Amino acid sequence: MSTIARRRFDCLVIGAGGAGLRAALQLAEAEAHVAVVSKVFPTRSHTVAAQGGINAALGNVTPDNWHWHMYDTVKGGDYLGDQDAIEYMCRAAARLVIELEHYGVPFTRLENGRIYQRPFGGQSQNFGGAQAARTCPAADRTGHAMLHALYQQNLKARTHFFDEFFVVDLLMDADGYCLGALAIEIETGAPLVIEAKATLIATGGASRIYRTTTNALINTGDGMAIALRAGTPLQDMEFVQFHPTGIAGIGILISEGVRGEGGYLINCNGERFMERYAPQAGDLASRDVVSRAIYTEVHEGRGCGPAKDYVLLKVDHLGAEIIKKRLPGIRELAMRFAHVDPIEQPIPVYPTAHYSMGGIPTNRFGQVVVPVHTGPEEPVPGLYAVGECACVSVHGANRLGGNSLLDIIVFGRAAGNHILDYLKENRYHRPAPPEAADPALARLARWDRRGEGESVDVLREELRLVMEEHCGVFRTQKLLDEGVRKIEALTQRLARAVLRDHSKVFNTARVEALELENMLEVARATIHSAAARQESRGAHSRLDYPDRDDIRWLKHTLYSRDGHRLDYKPVRMKPLTVEAFPLKERVY
Ligand code: FUM
Repeated sequence: MSTIARRRFDCLVIGAGGAGLRAALQLAEAEAHVAVVSKVFPTRSHTVAAQGGINAALGNVTPDNWHWHMYDTVKGGDYLGDQDAIEYMCRAAARLVIELEHYGVPFTRLENGRIYQRPFGGQSQNFGGAQAARTCPAADRTGHAMLHALYQQNLKARTHFFDEFFVVDLLMDADGYCLGALAIEIETGAPLVIEAKATLIATGGASRIYRTTTNALINTGDGMAIALRAGTPLQDMEFVQFHPTGIAGIGILISEGVRGEGGYLINCNGERFMERYAPQAGDLASRDVVSRAIYTEVHEGRGCGPAKDYVLLKVDHLGAEIIKKRLPGIRELAMRFAHVDPIEQPIPVYPTAHYSMGGIPTNRFGQVVVPVHTGPEEPVPGLYAVGECACVSVHGANRLGGNSLLDIIVFGRAAGNHILDYLKENRYHRPAPPEAADPALARLARWDRRGEGESVDVLREELRLVMEEHCGVFRTQKLLDEGVRKIEALTQRLARAVLRDHSKVFNTARVEALELENMLEVARATIHSAAARQESRGAHSRLDYPDRDDIRWLKHTLYSRDGHRLDYKPVRMKPLTVEAFPLKERVY
């Protein structure tokens, strides 16, 4: 390690999406020395793809308040969310959306100049009453607008960026402190040790482990995997959200905002089938409910198209003006990838892997927390996580649309503030022991081997297919157990794989191999956790255990890498200041 280049910062942020950038901004504005490492240019991070908007009870279109938002979030998560963190998020929302406006996010406006708000799934007035309109959009490119505003604010605050660097593993010491990470510069492959008093993981989601997904190529679960390898468990990984409306066959996101604006789903008989599955909320029921309905329609023979394998999202009745003004990006995607112009024709859609509710366990300050045998869980000193790679847990078993952009802003800021306090108490760098980078260097060296063997590309596509077939919208014990066996076999095969000995090996080949290792770590956590949970809750739907079972399963799963051990911890049902929302049957 002594010959490797090294840099030192107060804080290292891994990932340049909305969560990482919001945290970095909080730190840089307080004059902390902060570095953001990103494997892509920051404004290509996956936040850029978020379409429909960010939730806040502004009450600009329908009456609203944060208590109703909190109720909807608790119910949307099928009571698995921690109510203290949910209260914290919903209370902070309005203030932080206005702050975003001041950072330069061009929110869509009402005639009166206030921020426009569209209805999204699972939103209600008065604790389950009429539909609320709580999602604040910048047309249908909200994430794009937010990411660019946050990046520009970070440039102004002098955050240091390492663009196109890939983090291999964390540096840990024998006392369990996180001391930074070892990264490689993707262009040259040169390693770099980045020492930091505090490290924040903000690498986003992992839905590339599924064949059909809304996620970008970069969403390979890197942060979750590096946390696992550093000895942290992953929480609630069985809860994977399938967005109801991906473009059929390819999975590209068609925003829930389309249904928020009045679009609706029909089957091959032209029937608005959601009225049967969710009599009150219809097309704006929560995502797990709508995805199951679409899956059922197709599997019972009421799908559309020559293979009857999708349903249709009808939009033309909204009129060209609304579509062009409020859904311009959707129109472009539909024309380019589904070859239909929604002004005239419906869009073929089917559920697509979208979001991990689970992730690295944290408290509401973003500190990574792990169970200790002697008592309650404790923070890992110097290690933080926020955003989709983390599980705080505000989304419980199913996230509501529009709450992920909120999560990254609220908890990115909270983590930044907590790190500032941590830095006051930890003013000096702890010396990194010479062996701290050894595990990361060994991972790198393993992919220096060349020769003939199984290709990383083939293994990756097999993995994605196994996850789709064995750990999808509906699950059974048999399917999951077979999936576990297939994933373990793939793990063995990857251990023997090599980079192909072609005359030209691109420098990205090694990064893709490292990413596949990360994907497999996350897939194992997901499928082992799913095989163990014998109930249906939120996005985890078991045909063999169709009911929610609060007596046995009202608890969070903790998956550890060693021996695939599963532990469980209680759900925090007590909010910070208000009465708890008690368990209820969840109907829409
Ligand atoms: O449907 C959408 O626009 C996605 C939003 C979200 O996942 O929050």
